[in-house]
Amino acid sequence: MNPGLYPNSERILAAAALLEEGRLVAFPTETVYGLGADAENPDAVRAIFAAKGRPANHPLIVHVARNADLQHWAREIPTQAQQLIDAFWPGPLTLIFSRASHVPAVVAGGQNSVGLRCPSHPVAQALLAAFKHGHGGIAGPSANRFGHVSPTTAQHVIDEFGMPGVNSESPLACVIDGGQSEVGIESTIIDLSRLSTHGTVLLRPGRISPVQIAEVLGDMPATPDRAAPRVSGSLDAHYTPDTPVALVTTEQLPALMQRLSVHGRRCALMYYTQGAMNSEAAVRLLLSADPQAYAHALYATLRMLDMKACELILVEQPPQDEGWQGVNDRLRRAAFDSAGVLERLL
Ligand code: TXA
Ligand code: MG
Repeated sequence: MNPGLYPNSERILAAAALLEEGRLVAFPTETVYGLGADAENPDAVRAIFAAKGRPANHPLIVHVARNADLQHWAREIPTQAQQLIDAFWPGPLTLIFSRASHVPAVVAGGQNSVGLRCPSHPVAQALLAAFKHGHGGIAGPSANRFGHVSPTTAQHVIDEFGMPGVNSESPLACVIDGGQSEVGIESTIIDLSRLSTHGTVLLRPGRISPVQIAEVLGDMPATPDRAAPRVSGSLDAHYTPDTPVALVTTEQLPALMQRLSVHGRRCALMYYTQGAMNSEAAVRLLLSADPQAYAHALYATLRMLDMKACELILVEQPPQDEGWQGVNDRLRRAAFDSAGVLERLL
C-alpha cells in the first residue's frame, strides 16, 4: 500500500467530506476500485461520466452502507432481493431494482431502474458509514477509463487518472488505498426489476455464481435477452489492454507460439497449465489453476503484461466450468478480436 494514501479514520472522514462537496473520490472495494461520487448530486454524477469518457446512457452502481434504507432507492424490495441480500451482502453482488422516482435519472443512465451494492471491503464500509452519516449512496463505476482494464490497486487508479493534487488534470480529489482487491473481477449483477415478466436475470457473472444464487432462490437466474438493461461490461470490446489479446486453447498454443516466433513477433503469454509451456514467449506469467486465485490476479497481470512492449498477449483459455464463468466472460471481452489479431500478426 502507498503510505501516503493509507486510510486512517481522519482520511476517511476527509474523503467523505469531499464526496459531500460533490468531488470524485476513488475507493477500494473487494472486487475492483470504484470511482465514487454522491449518487444524489447530478453534477457530481456527470463528472464521473466525463472522467471515464463513459456514454451517459450506461448506468452506474450505487454503493450503500450496511443496513441502508433500500426503500429510499428502490420502488419496491421483492422477497427474492431480501433473500439474496441476507445471503450475500455485504459482498460482491449488485441487484437491479425499479428506481424510486426521486433518485436522479442520470445515475441510472436514464433507465427507470437502479443498481445497488453493499461492498464488504472494510474501507468501503467505513467510507459509506461516514458519508452523510451512512444515509447516502456512492455512485461508483470501476475507476478506469471507459473500456479499459478495471483497477485492483490504488496505483492502477493513479495510472489511469494521474495523482490527485500532483497532476493538475486529474479529475479525482483523492484516491484511498485499501490494498489489492481480493476478488479481482467486478460484482455479479442480478436484475430483479422485471420479475413479473422475466424472473431473475444474470446480467454479469462474477465471484457469486448462478448455482449459489439458485441455492438461495430455488431457481437458476436466466441469461439476458435483447431487452435487458444495458450493462457496459456486456459490450463486446471491454476490459481491454492496449496490447491486443488473443485467447487460445491449451492444445493450440505450442504450434501457434512457434509460428509467431518464426514471424519474429514479440509475445507475452499468460497461462495456468504448469509445465505445459516450454515457450518462445518473450514474457510469460503463470497464473493459478484455481479460478478465484486466477481472478484475483487477472487484471493486475494484464496491466503488467501491457507494459512489456509486446505485439500480442496470448492467453491460455481456462476451462469452461461454472467456477470460471466470471473469468471467461472478462477474457472473452478482452480478446474480442482474437482471430483478426492473429491474422494480422501471422
Ligand atoms: O464490482 C463492481 O460492481 C464495481 C465496484 C466498484 O463496485 N463496479 C463496477 O461498476 O463494476 P461499472 O460501472 O464498471 O459496472 C457496473 C455495471 C455496468 O455494466 C452497468 O451497466 C450495470 O452495472 N448497471 C448499473 N446500474 C444498472 C441498472 N440500473 N440497470 C442495468 N445495469 C446496470
Ligand atoms: Mg467497469
